[in-house]
Amino acid sequence: MSETTPAEVEREEFASAIPDPDCFLELQDLHKSFGSTSVLNGVDLKVPKGKVLTILGGSGSGKSVMLKHMIGLLRPDSGRVVVEGRDVTDLREREWIEVRKRIGYVFQGAALFDSLSVFENIAYPLREHFDQPEAELAHRVEVCLESVGLAGVGPKMPAELSGGMRKRVGVARAIAMHPQAILYDEPTTGLDPANSRRIGQLIRQLQKELNVTSVVVTHEPELCLAVSDQVVLLEKGVLRIDAPIEEFRASNAPPVRDFLGAFYDPGRDVERGES
Ligand SMILES: Nc1ncnc2c1ncn2[C@@H]1O[C@H](COP(=O)(O)OP(=O)(O)OP(=O)(O)O)[C@@H](O)[C@H]1O
Ligand SMILES: [Mg+2]
Repeated sequence: MSETTPAEVEREEFASAIPDPDCFLELQDLHKSFGSTSVLNGVDLKVPKGKVLTILGGSGSGKSVMLKHMIGLLRPDSGRVVVEGRDVTDLREREWIEVRKRIGYVFQGAALFDSLSVFENIAYPLREHFDQPEAELAHRVEVCLESVGLAGVGPKMPAELSGGMRKRVGVARAIAMHPQAILYDEPTTGLDPANSRRIGQLIRQLQKELNVTSVVVTHEPELCLAVSDQVVLLEKGVLRIDAPIEEFRASNAPPVRDFLGAFYDPGRDVERGES
């Protein structure tokens, strides 16, 4: 095999330095350990702009850790994070605030402020970032609550809600910011089937109508099949699979069959969430 010449190396380095216009966010050779526990061992990921990318992986495999690197809640030991063509790896905390305005985050637990009403939980980041008349703000909050099936719930306190409702408030809070991208950490865990489908439809609707880029972490085959354009599988700190949904569905690979379980049927036509 011929060796790579210095000129070829330089060309490759130059090519990787050019922002990919089809890519909203990129993780490059990301490494992260906590003490002696190594969690990410060289993750390379491109999140395509305006698409839905799903991250699969066993419990404890590092999916949440990966998401947190995308919005600067965790910093890598090495590797780069690139958002919309800009290397954001070494940004200071206050510079991250600007980036986070463009990226909504739905936490694995809903992460609501327990002492604030549902309305105030959603209004809080809006008040921080936008100077909006109160009536407009109230309208915006109500529209977001409606879109997650929680119309009129604004005055309630988080403690009065079920786990699934809290989760949907977390989604409403993320979409209220009108972000370019939304990262969902297990958005449907603990929801009943009808509400899970509603969240799936919302993810597709945001993608289709507003071109929102989405990254979805899930354990649920039905949601994965309903929303994904691209699927990646995280295992032992690296991405084992990175495939378009059609290829993923048709794959014979054991981890794919394990994950899909009863949903494994490469010939089946999947009903997408946008209908
Ligand atoms: N802040 C932290 N400090 C120390 N260890 C951490 C921290 N965050 C995550 N970890 C460790 O990193 C590993 C991956 O955690 P992570 O939460 O990303 O898993 P996950 O894939 O999201 O799992 P689950 O599906 O159960 O949510 C775990 O071993 C966890 O204990
Ligand atoms: Mg997690």
